[in-house]
Amino acid sequence: MRPPVFDLLEQDMERDAALPFIDLASRYFVRMRDGTDPVSTALSSAEIARRFDEPLPLGGRPLNEVTERIEHDVMSAMNRLAHPMCMGHQVSAPLPAAVWMETVIAAMNQSVAVAEMSPSATVVETQLVRWMTALIGWDASAGGTLTSGGTEATFTALLAARAAAMPNAWERGVGADGPLPVVLCGEHAHYAVTRAVAQLGLGLERAVAIPSRDWRMDTGALAARLDALAAHGTPVMAVVATAGSTATGSFDDLETIGALCEARGLWFHVDAAHGASALLSATHRDRMRGVARARSVAWDAHKMMLLPLSAGMLFVRDERDLDRAFAQRAPYLFHGDEDGRVWDQGTRSFQCSRRADALKMWVALERYGAAGLGEIYDHLCRTVRDLHGVIAGHPDFVALHAPESNILCFRWVGRAGEDDATVDAFNRDLRERYNKSGRGWITTTVLGGRRVLRVTVMNPRTGRDEVIRLLEGLSDEASTMRREGSREPGPPSPAFL
Ligand SMILES: Cc1ncc(COP(=O)(O)O)c(C=O)c1O
Repeated sequence: MRPPVFDLLEQDMERDAALPFIDLASRYFVRMRDGTDPVSTALSSAEIARRFDEPLPLGGRPLNEVTERIEHDVMSAMNRLAHPMCMGHQVSAPLPAAVWMETVIAAMNQSVAVAEMSPSATVVETQLVRWMTALIGWDASAGGTLTSGGTEATFTALLAARAAAMPNAWERGVGADGPLPVVLCGEHAHYAVTRAVAQLGLGLERAVAIPSRDWRMDTGALAARLDALAAHGTPVMAVVATAGSTATGSFDDLETIGALCEARGLWFHVDAAHGASALLSATHRDRMRGVARARSVAWDAHKMMLLPLSAGMLFVRDERDLDRAFAQRAPYLFHGDEDGRVWDQGTRSFQCSRRADALKMWVALERYGAAGLGEIYDHLCRTVRDLHGVIAGHPDFVALHAPESNILCFRWVGRAGEDDATVDAFNRDLRERYNKSGRGWITTTVLGGRRVLRVTVMNPRTGRDEVIRLLEGLSDEASTMRREGSREPGPPSPAFL
């Protein structure tokens, strides 16, 4: 006899089973419109864990009970990224049409590793690569792949750089080509860079940090360091610039760094995970000037293109660089070319099975257009400029930098005579209290050795009114803390993503 679970599968493929799930997501989006719900939960992880501390469910339960649990146990304790007062990490309030496409992607379950397993999705991904590399300013010899995010993109770029610098590393291991090279990056670079250097077998000590000037890589210091390395005969595997740095959203001078690399024949990688979407904006495109000089570029569509997680991209100026990065053979999977070109994407990716995330990105472009996404980019940046202006007129706060994108670091200034450590602790606790209050959600980081508050606007609903409310909220909480006369001890703040 057929077990009943098979009938459940048939029932659950019907529209009536799908709608409650779509309804949950849609009601959440709509409810966030007026901004009255708390942005986050005051519950601790341990308190949330009690909801789920139960034996493995051996038998199933009715679908309506499952969706009720999602709403009551899961969604009630989430961070509401669609809330206009959510200004935390670089994770988006996602584009709705792309969210709905997620269900279709999962239903089709095409794996884009191999063209024969994903006939249309592979072609769509290839077309996306064409569009995005054209925006970078490259011609048809460019290539790329979708990734889980910026971390995988930068790892893959440096793997390709390793294949160029150490062609024998794949077969014989690092060191087979002579002394190990170094990788240079700004001191503000995301940890994806140093992590990749270690993962690739170079050793963390071969990641060389170049100091910043105004939160950007100091190009004079870079040139001096490259000269010194050349004088010592130390090979350089790559120079990594950041376009849209994690802490401050600042853009390195890609034009100058690119020219330095070109003159020395060095691999130039741009980690533009955060900022590459500026290429969609007529106003902000110039921040990416010089990017076409790069040999590889990381670009996260799940950051300023507001795609739901995850949607990363890595592009190379010459597609063959990616083929060389991954030199494995798998004749049972990859069948070579068709019509003189290789469609299989698995030969160019860290992953084997891979979701067809390209489809949600394609849907976002179909629905909102590249120009529409550029206008959203502009709005996110404008809102942070507004915040910068509001802070300039507020006696209790000071901005640490002028915003170049949608990120701003600022600080509660403290009272005359208070030492830095006291003000640091106050800023840390202020953020904890504000977030726990449910009225908003921001992050914190350390900048120039000082604890600062950090805002990232990733939600088209956040505008001038909301950033004014943010400062009012922080001010209220700070006054309460002062009145209470003692800092409320909070857990250490998590580092930003
Ligand atoms: C500049 C930069 N590069 C890389 C990353 C890592 O990206 P992902 O989290 O998508 O792996 C981030 C994430 O914040 C980033 O800001």
